[in-house]
Amino acid sequence: MTGVIHFLLNGIKRRVTEVTPAMTVLQYLREREGMIGTKEGCAEGDCGACTVVVCRVEDGRPVYHAVNSCLLLLPQLDGAAVYTVEGLADQRGELHPVQQALLDSDGTQCGFCTPGIVMSMAAFQQSGETATDDHIHEMLSGNLCRCTGYRSIVAACRRLAADTADAPAPLMESPSLIETLTSCADYRDDNLIFLTPCSLTELAGVAAQHPQAQFLAGGTDLGLLFSKHRKQPTALISTSRVAEMKRISVVADALEIGGAVTYTEALPYLDEHLPQFADLVRRIGSRQIRNLGTIAGNLANASPIGDTPPCLIALEAILTLQSASGSRSVPAEGFITGYRKTVLQPGEFIESIRIPRLRPNQQFFAYKISKRFDQDISTTIGAFRIELQNSVVRDLRAVFGGMAAQPARATCAEKIVIGRPWTPETLAGIDAEVARDFSPIDDHRGSAAYRLRAAANLFRRLQLETTVTSPVRLELL
Ligand code: FES
Ligand code: FES
Repeated sequence: MTGVIHFLLNGIKRRVTEVTPAMTVLQYLREREGMIGTKEGCAEGDCGACTVVVCRVEDGRPVYHAVNSCLLLLPQLDGAAVYTVEGLADQRGELHPVQQALLDSDGTQCGFCTPGIVMSMAAFQQSGETATDDHIHEMLSGNLCRCTGYRSIVAACRRLAADTADAPAPLMESPSLIETLTSCADYRDDNLIFLTPCSLTELAGVAAQHPQAQFLAGGTDLGLLFSKHRKQPTALISTSRVAEMKRISVVADALEIGGAVTYTEALPYLDEHLPQFADLVRRIGSRQIRNLGTIAGNLANASPIGDTPPCLIALEAILTLQSASGSRSVPAEGFITGYRKTVLQPGEFIESIRIPRLRPNQQFFAYKISKRFDQDISTTIGAFRIELQNSVVRDLRAVFGGMAAQPARATCAEKIVIGRPWTPETLAGIDAEVARDFSPIDDHRGSAAYRLRAAANLFRRLQLETTVTSPVRLELL
């Protein structure tokens, strides 16, 4: 074992040397620290029972995020402060305001779900986010309890916001203490090398030295290899500290998102420039997942049901791929070449994603169809960039996930629409064209017939939604 991981655990410094880098934070807390308040429910980022709060210092101020400790490897904590449910009450045993609000509102549930709910609420309170009902529901959607209606938990969130409106929560940790932590770029044992480069040059260098390594850009899918004890890689390279890849820039004609930018970090920019894309991103996993996961990771994962690739293809995004031998630009449309296959060469990674801004006549819509609204994997997803002029379709890019081994355009369907009036009559043959474009599979998320019907109906929905002369309240459909 080489390397030292430094972090704060409930305010106390930890210096870890004898733990395998393959250990999850959840395992570490329970097995090494005896902190069994943090629970394992699913070990795959769904239930939220393992939620802890991680704090890092960004631009001189502490930023708090709820994350799933079951998917987080211990080296990912390096240089951060982590809080568990054991660390909230003060030393005299007085409850934290979050705990008190849950108690006062009869919001406590069982010992499995409640610690995670407490920690999600604690991160929410620390973030200073306005406690609207929408925000509260979104925050709680990553903490599953099948036994309650959440009413009293939501009431506790409202009570907490009201009780602390004039007195924001005391910071859990002083930024200066976090900044004293030394960082570790190379932590390893005989089975796994975990590298954390800090610059683009370093990243390209270590990637060239370890061409067999997998990139960890959030790890919300990769983490399952460890939490579920599946076949694990021998080397991981985390992109989370590469400063150049943490940037988001808005330029005249595009939005540029660095390869290490998380969904949560990207959301304010998407809200402003591509609100329909933002709405879709809010349905990826839970807030805990979005606090770790990245758009670049979602792309490189190349899952046929990844939510962002159809959007990026529809929007004609361009990816900058980087390696030690230089960089190249690749359209998002050609990036994924098959089931979990991409054009990435060994040692090459996504440095940034450039999304062109919409032109005046263009509109973008993305629709996710899943069995459950929150916290679910898509059965199918349709992303559309449409350009209308005088009620005629000048251009359309219609891209679907969940319909083939990789996200793909519905080119036959596009052809019968482009250049024609944007009316229901134009879509009369859309089912047949979608069936020419795709031969989806039957699986537990939906049958092939269901997927084809749903995809065709998304064209109809798009037509309704973009027909300004006959507005339709789609939420009523
Ligand atoms: Fe269920 Fe981590 S144990 S999300
Ligand atoms: Fe804890 Fe329902 S899972 S009370």
